[in-house]
Amino acid sequence: MNGFKPPLPLRAETPAAWAGAALADPAALLSDHAHNEKKAALNALNLSLSFGGAPRASVLLARLAEEELSHYRRVLEALQAFGWPLRPDGGNAYAKALHGQAARGLLDRLLIAALIEARSCERLWLLERAGASHPELGSAAWLGFLLELERCEAGHALGYRSLAEERFGAEAAPRLDWWLDREAEVIQSLPWRSAVH
Ligand SMILES: [Fe+2]
Ligand SMILES: [Fe+2]
Repeated sequence: MNGFKPPLPLRAETPAAWAGAALADPAALLSDHAHNEKKAALNALNLSLSFGGAPRASVLLARLAEEELSHYRRVLEALQAFGWPLRPDGGNAYAKALHGQAARGLLDRLLIAALIEARSCERLWLLERAGASHPELGSAAWLGFLLELERCEAGHALGYRSLAEERFGAEAAPRLDWWLDREAEVIQSLPWRSAVH
């Protein structure tokens, strides 16, 4: 047990040793994460196109996009402060594998977003726990930022799930149950690298 309580009941716990692999190349980790935050902001805005007539959903997605954009900027500022470059986006095999199994349009897009947020949250928590002794990422300011990200992404996971439930009613829960198994398979099939997934 790594001790983390995820916002959604993830079915494959990341071993605590994962954080050591992720922190092996902190410049790569941060650069990859900047791209993740940017894509999370774009995804929230794209999803809002499907909720035109629903004010609560539109407000939730606008706030979510704003928060992701702010995370993106702050990760970029951290890269700048460390003197590390933003590397080209190497892609995210985890997100790609999940989207490759999507078959139910908007419902699946919302549930995949919820799961990615929940997994990110777990792994940010592991990084925060392991980071205290890290030469570059061990500062109190950095660890505080990770904690803030982790809490924010937990809220996003719940927000996406609530949008799926509101729009799709009774169809949402069994589909999430199906996705929880797929997510566990995907995350366990991927090699560890200096990235959140
Ligand atoms: Fe974020
Ligand atoms: Fe998020």
